[in-house]
Amino acid sequence: MKFFIDTANLDHIKEANDLGILDGVTTNPSLMAKEGISGKENIFRHYKKICDLVDGDVSAEVIATDLEGILREGKELVEIADNIVVKVPMIKDGIKAICEFSNLGIKTNCTLVFSAGQAILAAKAGASYLSPFIGRIDDSNWDGMQLIKDIFEIYSMQGYDTEILAASVRSSLHIVEAARAGADVVTCPLDAILGLLKHPLTDIGLAKFLEDHKKAAVK
Ligand code: G3P
Repeated sequence: MKFFIDTANLDHIKEANDLGILDGVTTNPSLMAKEGISGKENIFRHYKKICDLVDGDVSAEVIATDLEGILREGKELVEIADNIVVKVPMIKDGIKAICEFSNLGIKTNCTLVFSAGQAILAAKAGASYLSPFIGRIDDSNWDGMQLIKDIFEIYSMQGYDTEILAASVRSSLHIVEAARAGADVVTCPLDAILGLLKHPLTDIGLAKFLEDHKKAAVK
């Protein structure tokens, strides 16, 4: 399973990248706004910085919701760097745009996916990645991880190439569950990645090893 970080924060991206396990980055308009980035020029400059930091795919989301606008924005975004993936919402014109981008050899990430039916449409359109929003489904009192399992089953059975990118991941446990459910990629905040390191027995065990080493050294 690939690890993407879901942020537009350059420090967080650097920290995850320094771990040596980062395969890419996903962003969205809310995450860009959170960093205080606004205006087309600034947003494009920020994407370029992210693309230069990471050796992997960087999802950049279109704002337009009509076919012409999505195609225009997507074509501008891919000019920023070779590793840009155009993030397109799961709407009618989004599906049409994904078909066209796919024909042009432009990679896409179909976002705001909440059902298996939407996942089938995106795969048929030729999306490179599919982003089901696990956390937001859980927030609505439904089972987000079950959706990943369902999509994995359908894609495996049908032989679809679209990669399942578990998104709206809120915790380290979500990462483990997404791996078990068959996700190809998980995208999450830095905290959820760093949380995977934690286990009290690791801390206790290390403290004991270091203490014993010190005791042996003074003998
Ligand atoms: O990858 C999509 C993600 O950014 C949404 O996460 O936590 O806002 O539901 P969240």
